Parts: sequence; C-alpha cells; structure tokens
Amino acid sequence: RLAYVNGRYVPHAQAMVHVEDRGYQFADGVYEVVPVIDGVLVDEEPHLDRLGYSLQELRIAWPVTRPVLKLILRELMTSNGLKRGLVYFQVSRGVAPRDHKFPAGIKSALVITTKRMNPPSEAVLRHGVAVSSQPDIRWTRRDIKSLSLLPNILAKQAATEAKAFEAWLVDGDGVVTEGSSTNAWIVKDGTVITYPKGHDILGGITRLSLLELADKTGTKLVERSFTLKEAISADEAFLTSSSAFILPVTSIDGQQIGSGKPGPVTQQLRQIYLDNVA
Ligand code: PDD
Repeated sequence: RLAYVNGRYVPHAQAMVHVEDRGYQFADGVYEVVPVIDGVLVDEEPHLDRLGYSLQELRIAWPVTRPVLKLILRELMTSNGLKRGLVYFQVSRGVAPRDHKFPAGIKSALVITTKRMNPPSEAVLRHGVAVSSQPDIRWTRRDIKSLSLLPNILAKQAATEAKAFEAWLVDGDGVVTEGSSTNAWIVKDGTVITYPKGHDILGGITRLSLLELADKTGTKLVERSFTLKEAISADEAFLTSSSAFILPVTSIDGQQIGSGKPGPVTQQLRQIYLDNVA
C-alpha cells in the first residue's frame, strides 16, 4: 500500500512528514475524507469544493492544482487497488521553523492515504447504533474542516467508553449541533430535521447529497436546530458521514428512540442515498 507525501508515492510504512510541518505542530491545516464505492470517488466535486473553501478561509494555498489533485487521487487508488473504502487527504500550511504567524514563502504540504472499508454489518443495520451526548466544546468556525480535532476525539472517546458508536455534541442551549464526525438528524411526524448550515457545524457532503435527494423524492425537510430532549422523544434518528453514509440511531444516552428499531423514513433515505451513489 502506498501513500502520497509531497510529490512522492511511498510505501505506507515509510510515509513521513517533517517535524516542523505546521500541521503537526499547530494543526494548521485542513483535510477531507472521500468515500470510494466500486473504485469511484463519491461526490468528488463537492468534496473538492469544500477543500477549497476550508483552504480559502485559512488563507492556505492549494498544494497542487485541482486537476492535478484529481489525477493523484486516481493514481493512488489504482496503485492501492482501492475498490471500496476511504481516501484521506490533508493540506497543511507547510514546513517552517515554529512561529505562530504565517511564514513567508512556504509551499503548503499535501499528504494522501487510502483505507479499505467494508459496508456496515447486517447487525448494525438491523439494530441501529447507540449515541452518547457530550458537551460541544469546539471553536466557533466548525464549518472549516480543520485538522484540529481535539474536542471531537475527546467526545468520541467518551462516547466509546459509554459503549456508544458516536457522540452527539450538545451546546450551551441544549441543542444538538452534530456528531463528533457525523451530522445528526431526527424525524418527527414525518418531517426530517437537521441543524442548519453555517459556522456552527461542518457542512457534511453526505448531508448535502441527502438533502438534495430527499427533496426530489418529496420528503418533508426542515433545516433547524433541535434539542437533545427533542431528539430523545423523536420518532426516528440517524447520522450521516462519508464513512458511515446513513446509519440509524436507536438509542441516545441509553434511552430508546421511537420503536427502538431503525425507522421507516431512515431506511427509505438510506436506500435512496445508496441507490444514487452506487
Ligand atoms: N468526518 N461533522 C463533522 C464534525 C465531521 O468531522 C464530519 C466528517 C461530518 C460529516 O461530513 P461528510 O458527510 O462530508 O463526511 C460532520 C469525517 C468522515 C472524518 O473526520 O473522518
């Protein structure tokens, strides 16, 4: 298996970055995770658009042009025989002696890896997953897909220790913003509800695709905030991301959601999404 590191394809085990890479020292960089199904990148263009947005917001230059990046992604997927899984790429501001202010005249650094991944198990799809609520202690620019993920990993770890699959992050008003690495959704009286796009959440690409698809099929949708209390008394709940696609959530903090089984709206949306991407 190969990785791409700043212009070279190297064996994964020997793929290294410089100790003065600002991604390593300051988390001064951004990333993307793109799913691959049947050897094809899912929603590649919106992912690259979001990369461009994250880079622009942090005033980091593209490490290579967009068409070149697309070529490198394909080259790596082909070399690694990646049919189903994830491509991870990150761009840091570059390598320079440690100093908080932006160094002059450095090139941004690009690292790409691939990972094989199996579809979720039958058991997960039949039973859904458990979620644990955790305080949302992140900064106020969550729309930037920044490498800085400490609050996210702390929340995910706390959820894991609570035997949950994901953490749902709750702000000071009791509102569920999103998951630690997924977007959060509920269904109430046939209406699908998810937090509105803006600085408070990462604008998920799976979220975006699903909103477009659901709208086409006449599903009732509202982008508005919902509280943890509302989520617990919802008819259905689910989460979305590039790695999980759409997974039913059947309990929150040990309390059963709806029937305690994956709900009909969730299952229908999952099917609509999968039919469209695969
Ligand atoms: N996470 N919210 C957060 C905080 C995320 O980190 C992610 C993605 C999402 C879902 O976005 P998308 O549908 O574009 O994957 C929502 C990726 C998968 C990760 O960090 O591994």
